[in-house]
Amino acid sequence: MDQDRAKKISEIENRINKEIENLRLDVKASTDIKSLELLKSKYLGKKSCLLSIRKSIGSLDSEIKPVAGKMTNALKQEIDKIISEKEIEIGELEREREMAEEALDLTLPGRKPRKGSISIISRVTEEIEKIFIGMGFEIAGGPEVETDYYNFEALNTPRDHPARSLHDTMFINDNVLLRTQTSPVQIRYMEQNKPPIAIIVPGKVYRKDYDVSHTPMFTQIEGLVVDRGINFGNLKWTLETFVREIFGNERKVRFRPHYFPFTEPSAEVDVSCKNCNGKGCRVCSWKGWLEILGAGMVDPELYKFVNYDPEEVSGFAFGLGIERICMLKYGIDDLRLFFENDLRFIKQF
Ligand code: DAH
Repeated sequence: MDQDRAKKISEIENRINKEIENLRLDVKASTDIKSLELLKSKYLGKKSCLLSIRKSIGSLDSEIKPVAGKMTNALKQEIDKIISEKEIEIGELEREREMAEEALDLTLPGRKPRKGSISIISRVTEEIEKIFIGMGFEIAGGPEVETDYYNFEALNTPRDHPARSLHDTMFINDNVLLRTQTSPVQIRYMEQNKPPIAIIVPGKVYRKDYDVSHTPMFTQIEGLVVDRGINFGNLKWTLETFVREIFGNERKVRFRPHYFPFTEPSAEVDVSCKNCNGKGCRVCSWKGWLEILGAGMVDPELYKFVNYDPEEVSGFAFGLGIERICMLKYGIDDLRLFFENDLRFIKQF
């Protein structure tokens, strides 16, 4: 009888050992959590060897039941232990792999973002601002969407005025438009301030135009000085000083009579051609001179719109196109280049 029991026990022992051996092999071959889950159900689930041994215990001799019970419990513990050890091992491996994937190689050379630079127009605008600030001017501004009143009417350019046809105006409706010039800021500023006034107004302006010397948007700087006793001599000195500062001392300046609705008298200002030094060449269309700005004494008509007394004050105004100054300064022959964003052009500055 003892022999019989011993045999039974050793039979169970063999099955258990075999089972553990199989489990070890299976666990060794498994490389991820998913396959480990499958092993759990294979070795602990309904069809597992563990369960079948447990079921068979009921029919065993009562003497060996407790022994067999202990052995199956030990088997269960062993299975749990082997699987959970592997679980930890796989977890660590997976974390290591994730870390390796996310790792930064700090020794790699960086990718340099392309450096932008200040546009040539902004740069020249700043240069011009500095020159005028040095002469005591302040910087002012106004809206790009403007009313007919400020852009034309109060600048002495009523609706039937022939000078209007020179501005290819972009209207938004009958009374609202994209400003064609920075001059409306003259009126806006005078409405809000009393003389003495000395301002410059850089800003974008808009006209329906497109060719080598015209773009639908371009940049102007307006200037306005109003005080007691301002005369044409002040205007001349201011603009001559400006031209020498921006283009160099050797350039000559000349004033030509002209017409603007808001100045009287009016002038256009030319600078001697740098290319031919005034002799005449292709750049200056054989004139020896290049036109750079419009100017004049503020027409007293304007003071009526802003409640200034023309008997008390007088002033001068001027307006220049910044792109034009850039073109002359850097020998650029097509205005459209400024706005086409061609890196070959932009990179030169
Ligand atoms: N606003 C003029 C234009 O766009 C330029 C100008 C001329 C402005 C004479 C002035 C001036 O202030 O006095 O053509």
